[in-house]
Amino acid sequence: MKPNFWNEKYAEESFVYGTKPNRFLELMLESRPPGRLLFPCDGEGRNAVYAAKLGWEVYAFDQSSRAQEKALALAKQEGVSINYALADALEYDPSIKFDAVALIYAHFPEAIRQEIHQKMVGLLKPVGELWLEAFAPGQLEYQSGGPKDPSMLYTPEILEEDFQALQIRQAEVTKYVLDEGPGHRGMGEVVRLRGVNQST
Ligand SMILES: C[S@@+](CC[C@H](N)C(=O)[O-])C[C@H]1O[C@@H](n2cnc3c(N)ncnc32)[C@H](O)[C@@H]1O
Repeated sequence: MKPNFWNEKYAEESFVYGTKPNRFLELMLESRPPGRLLFPCDGEGRNAVYAAKLGWEVYAFDQSSRAQEKALALAKQEGVSINYALADALEYDPSIKFDAVALIYAHFPEAIRQEIHQKMVGLLKPVGELWLEAFAPGQLEYQSGGPKDPSMLYTPEILEEDFQALQIRQAEVTKYVLDEGPGHRGMGEVVRLRGVNQST
């Protein structure tokens, strides 16, 4: 999807995916001491702002200028600071490494997905962790959001191949009731992955 599509989707003052964090991200953060965390394709900032409030040093990026504007306004409103760049995933180059990278509903076309996923692995520190939640093919049965193009939906097998450089600790499909603004609401089918960087 092009930036203009997302700028239009985010045009209104209200938050399409709400201002509460994603549930899987909450689970990942609840037992970990803060470090430096990257949110690719962060949208309106709900996840970045949540992590910053927990004391993480937060970096984020998105291709949509309207997303960046809303995320920075949310951070200001919540009294936290986030480093939010306007960038395409193929070009984002922070020149630093992260304790964790959290890909939350970052769905890419098949032609560029693996390149971007492998690039994200390269941004992890040793023993850094990659966390991902995205819609699985079964999501096409539901009306709770996500891409309608099946090639942009992910399975554990696709992700295990993309992230084969990581030690995979979790890769599973799960169903749960989404409550993430009007954009993700109702029963949904997602894939969740957690992998650890083994390289030094
Ligand atoms: C479904 S939204 C999810 C936003 C956020 N992660 C969340 O869960 O609230 C997908 C986001 O990915 C961004 N995006 C998609 N492809 C991108 C790319 N190649 N580079 C940067 N951002 C991208 C869009 O602009 C959009 O904000």
